[in-house]
Amino acid sequence: MNKETQESLQNIPNHVAIIMDGNGRWALEKGLPRLSGHRAGTENLREVIEACAEFGIKYLTIYAFSTENWKRPKEEIQGLMRIFKTMLDRELQNLHENGVQLRHLGRLDQIDKELQKKVREAIELTKDNKTLILNVAFNYGGRDEILQAVKNIISAGHSVDDIDDEQFAKYLYTSESPDPDLIIRTSGEYRCSNFLIWQSAYAEWYFTPTYWPDFNKEELRQALIVYNQRERRYGEVKQEKER
Ligand code: FPP
Repeated sequence: MNKETQESLQNIPNHVAIIMDGNGRWALEKGLPRLSGHRAGTENLREVIEACAEFGIKYLTIYAFSTENWKRPKEEIQGLMRIFKTMLDRELQNLHENGVQLRHLGRLDQIDKELQKKVREAIELTKDNKTLILNVAFNYGGRDEILQAVKNIISAGHSVDDIDDEQFAKYLYTSESPDPDLIIRTSGEYRCSNFLIWQSAYAEWYFTPTYWPDFNKEELRQALIVYNQRERRYGEVKQEKER
């Protein structure tokens, strides 16, 4: 890393989350089927995961399949499931050797049994790794997560006075991860699309027109440079240097 980049990257976010959007348009513009876009979107993922570890990011959360994605055509859903399985088969050993710990956010019980098994095995294999925690949001929806948390809190018999921010967060899928510091959305869309809606309360957002399959280490560096220029105030006032 050169000195200039080093200086503009003094403050590395602990937790980066990514909405990997634009696979379909990437493929369409090349005259390819949408699934080619999703396949291409797994190729750069390896580079981005490695880059996160190199930059010293400790948590990476990726939005791989939302609770709303079930509304897509059956062929696309089946294709996506195949891609996820292949990806786990192909990448797991490499992720493990590089100290990546895999975690899942969302409803695992509603997906294909074989994929469930692969995900559970991957979580078990990598559970002691410490270099990078990779949360894969798969069959994940922020509203669903909050509703599940409310139901579980009621079932656990908590009294109303027990419940505060901290208690509530323990019932979310992300109970083991800090809130995201930086959320990146690719493809020029400016929405949160039901992603980490509780956890993103004070996250910085970064939007890029780049389609996900073209997002790479250099693009991540740009996002980190912009993050370094932001001033996070968490609702407080800016500290004045002199009066
Ligand atoms: C959004 O693009 C992307 C998805 C719904 C799937 C994301 C999945 C991957 C990148 C594969 C990686 C998978 C795992 C399990 C780590 P879109 O289809 O909405 O694109 P569009 O808005 O251009 O149509």
